[in-house]
Amino acid sequence: MFAKIYPVLKPANNRALIDNETYQNWYRESIENPERFWGEHGKRIDWSKPFTKIKNTSFEGDVSIKWFEDGETNVSYNCVDRHLATHADQVAIIWEGDDPSLSKKITYREVHEQVCRLANVMKARGVKKGDRVTVYMPMIPEAAYAMLACARIGAVHSVVFGGFSPDALGGRIVDCESTFVITADEGLRGGKPIPLKNNVDKAIDIAARGHIMVKDVIVVRRTGNPTGWAPGRDLWYHEECAKVSADCAPEPMNAEDPLFILYTSGSTGRPKGVLHTTGGYLVYASMTHQYVFDYHEGDIYWCTADVGWVTGHSYIVYGPLANGATTLMFEGVPNYPDQGRFWEVVDKHKVNIFYTAPTAIRALMGAGDDFVKRSSRSSPRLLGSVGEPINPEAWEWYYHVVGDDRCPIVDTWWQTETGGIMITPLPGATDLKAGSATRPFFGVKPELVDGEGRVLEGATDGNLCITDSWPGQMRTIHGDHERFIQTYFATYKGKYFTGDGCRRDEDGYYWITGRVDDVLNVSGHRLGTAEVESALVSHHDVSEAAVVGYPHDIKGQGIYCYVTLMAGVQGSDELRKTLVGHVRTEIGPIASPDKIQFAPGLPKTRSGKIMRRILRKIAEDDFGALGDTSTLADPAVVDDLIANRQNKK
Ligand code: WTA
Repeated sequence: MFAKIYPVLKPANNRALIDNETYQNWYRESIENPERFWGEHGKRIDWSKPFTKIKNTSFEGDVSIKWFEDGETNVSYNCVDRHLATHADQVAIIWEGDDPSLSKKITYREVHEQVCRLANVMKARGVKKGDRVTVYMPMIPEAAYAMLACARIGAVHSVVFGGFSPDALGGRIVDCESTFVITADEGLRGGKPIPLKNNVDKAIDIAARGHIMVKDVIVVRRTGNPTGWAPGRDLWYHEECAKVSADCAPEPMNAEDPLFILYTSGSTGRPKGVLHTTGGYLVYASMTHQYVFDYHEGDIYWCTADVGWVTGHSYIVYGPLANGATTLMFEGVPNYPDQGRFWEVVDKHKVNIFYTAPTAIRALMGAGDDFVKRSSRSSPRLLGSVGEPINPEAWEWYYHVVGDDRCPIVDTWWQTETGGIMITPLPGATDLKAGSATRPFFGVKPELVDGEGRVLEGATDGNLCITDSWPGQMRTIHGDHERFIQTYFATYKGKYFTGDGCRRDEDGYYWITGRVDDVLNVSGHRLGTAEVESALVSHHDVSEAAVVGYPHDIKGQGIYCYVTLMAGVQGSDELRKTLVGHVRTEIGPIASPDKIQFAPGLPKTRSGKIMRRILRKIAEDDFGALGDTSTLADPAVVDDLIANRQNKK
């Protein structure tokens, strides 16, 4: 099977920073001589103390990853101050509100003032270098100020997506022991208020049970609706910021000082706190932002992610601001007031570079072309995709209808753990194939291995590993380095295992096929099946649960739950609703089960291990090929599961 090739588009090529020859040369050097390559590109950010050491990394033994380890810098300085001399009045952030009549433009000078003020508020309340600060915010500029203010004083932010429940938020506050929270009274999405502050209040009670006492809550007034208020602990952002100086010197940070913790789901246990550090992360985020999006000065750039995810960290805030770009922050949702919103915003702000997720593309494709066609879309030069595999149909629609056959698409594969984009086309260098993330970025060495770890060559399917370090790589799991080693470096010794399956074609292009572990990707959001299972079994009517993914037209994957009830409890639609509500309370709306099947028994091996392979097949309505069920303790359960499946086609 040969996929159609979309050759590099001429306009992109004429303008592009990197053509194919440059890609080949730089890539070769980045692999053959990473010291020289990164020594050079490490200088793209400003260092208060230049590094002399470049790469000191090992995927063996204790796994230690250090980049630019004797250098000193400050991320907030690089994202703000260094642009002031020449670009102070350039717009740094365009904010587009949920309500289409609301937007504002914030210059680098203004960002500087806001960040300094908030940093001073934090300092005055006793926040010090290394302290963890939880940020639970809607998509408003103050979210970026909060991240940058932390970076300015050396505090480590833990941004928690505003869609997570109080339980999920409380758990994350406890895990990183943060006693300082920045939030807003409410968020606003699609015209609906999100009770952020009230969620924080509940989360603080939950954290207290875990012996973490939150001392300060800074609250941005967004909607002005009433919320709970604890005098002495809760403070209005605007009141506190007005009291302090608009200047705050950036704290010199070692390249390997932590910058942020971001929780993400794995195949087992609770979400893990992925830890990223200062120097290497910023070098990598800014470099990928520049070359992957072919960013030129003056471009208006829009990434539709939420700052609560890594895409928002690297490609709304840190990468673009380090490059002095104008980054658009959108508070709303793609279908409010209607499904034409994205394209309206593109026209309104003359967006040149547009980066979104396949789930949004599929949903908007389903709404029909008219919503797109009613906009001019004359400004975009480049389109991007991230978060999950993009199916060729969605890719073609994005290319032909949204991009008018004029804009290259960069399908960017990466992970919370990788800090930045890893496999991607470069618009002036790479011929495109619909659905392929194409080739590795500079410094990235992908390898495909089979289940036994044997390296596979040529055109093949395999498990995707990366064999050497890159500057944006996570350094550890906060508080659990052993789990870091076990999760990423133990499956295939000496290699970083991504958890993704992948095909390499005859041209050496990579096609990510999806997770090969028990991680789900629902609308581009990562979720562990184990998390949903533990939410389900925490309900008093549930004795056991097994959760798998199944293909879903819009979400990519849907959540299918097999639930065994306590003796005497009857399954009903009412109980299904209750359980869906329960999972939403425990984790958040993104984890809402799509299907719940009540199962008197689950297929287990004689040693008690649940055979997920069988559950996946039944959820996909593909039970003709169940494979060998003879090792099951009770093969009869399978017949019952098939008879009562919830996904009959
Ligand atoms: C998936 C998001 C195919 C993949 C940046 C990965 C993708 C997981 C792509 C990480 C892509 C991300 N094509 N799959 N372009 N981008 N993925 O940590 O399974 O939220 O392991 O980071 O998303 O999700 P995370």
